Amino acid sequence: MTDPASDSPAPDLSVRVGGLLLKNPVLTASGTFGYGIEFAPFMDLSALGGIVVKGLSLTPSPGNPPPRVVETPCGMLNAIGLENVGVEAFLAEKLPKLAGVGTPVIANIYGKTVEDYSALAERLEGEPGVAALEVNISCPNVKAGGVAFGVDPSAAAQVIAKVRTRTKKPLIAKLSPNVTSIALIARAVEGAGADAVSLINTITGMAVDLATRRPVLANVTGGLSGPAIKPVGLRMVWEAARAVKIPVIGIGGIVTARDALEYLLVGAAAVQVGTANFVDPAAAFKVLTGIEGFCRENNIRAIRDFIGSLEV
Ligand SMILES: Cc1cc2nc3c(=O)[nH]c(=O)nc-3n(C[C@H](O)[C@H](O)[C@H](O)COP(=O)(O)O)c2cc1C
Repeated sequence: MTDPASDSPAPDLSVRVGGLLLKNPVLTASGTFGYGIEFAPFMDLSALGGIVVKGLSLTPSPGNPPPRVVETPCGMLNAIGLENVGVEAFLAEKLPKLAGVGTPVIANIYGKTVEDYSALAERLEGEPGVAALEVNISCPNVKAGGVAFGVDPSAAAQVIAKVRTRTKKPLIAKLSPNVTSIALIARAVEGAGADAVSLINTITGMAVDLATRRPVLANVTGGLSGPAIKPVGLRMVWEAARAVKIPVIGIGGIVTARDALEYLLVGAAAVQVGTANFVDPAAAFKVLTGIEGFCRENNIRAIRDFIGSLEV
C-alpha cells in the first residue's frame, strides 16, 4: 500500500528565532544534552534545529554534592547545581568538536553576579562557533545568582541589559516558571533587549524519605522536569507569547512530536527537548521526524503557518 502522505512535498520546517534562521524548530535543552557531541552516535546532529549546551560559568564548577537526581512520577527532580567545565575548557576542548556539526550551537550561560554574565558574554562574543547566547536567569539549584535574577522583573532586565551591551549575537533569556506573572518578566527582558525568551526551566520541588525522615536530595530541594511539567509549560508559553513580540521558545516535558506541536500551537516559535534525552538519546530526532509527518498528513506546507494557530 502506498502512503499518500509520502507523495506530498517536504514541508518547510524553517523558523526564525530572534535573528537565528533554524532549519526546523527542534532544539535540545541545556543540561540534558551534554556538550552535544556525546549524542552524535545516536542521531544525525545536523538534522536538529539547534543544540543548546550545558550551562557555562566563568570557572569550572563541581555542582552540588550527591544525591542530586531523583525520579518522580512522570518526571525527575535534579539539583545538579550547574556542574560544568567552565567557559575556557568549553572553548578549548568542546566547541572545536562541534565545528562543522551543521546546526547552530547555542551557549547557555550562568553567573552569580551581573558582572559574571557580562564577562561570559564578552568572552564568547568573538567565537564564530557560538551562534547565540541563552542567558539562564532561572536555575533553582544554586545558592547565588540564577533564579534570583529570574523572579524579579527589574533584576532580570538588569542582567539582560548588561549582556546586551556585550554581545551582538542573538540573545535568548531563559525564564523561570517559579514566578507569579511570566508576562511581567517576559516584557521586562524584551524591554532590556532580549531577542527571544525560552521557557520553562524546572519547577522547584522536593522529595523526602519516610524511612530516614530526611530529604532525598542533598540540596533538599530540586528542579522538577519531564512530562509532569508540560501543562505548566504550555500555559506559560501561551501567556508569554501573548505578552511579547519577540519569539518564545517552548520547553517543558516534551517527549513526543505531539508534545512539541502543542507548544507550537500555543505560540512557541521553536521548542527544546530536555529530560526525554535521558530516556531516549534519539528523542529530539524522533520529535523532529514526527513533526514532519504531522505536517505531511495535515497538508501543512510551512510550520510557520501552524505556529500560534490555537483558537481560544
Ligand atoms: C539534569 C538537568 C540539568 C539541567 N541543566 C540546565 C542548565 O545547565 N541550564 C539551563 O538553563 N537549564 C538546565 N536544565 C533545565 C532544562 O534545560 C529544561 O528547561 C527543563 O528540564 C524543562 O524541560 P524538560 O521537562 O523537557 O526537561 C536542566 C535540566 C535537567 C533535568
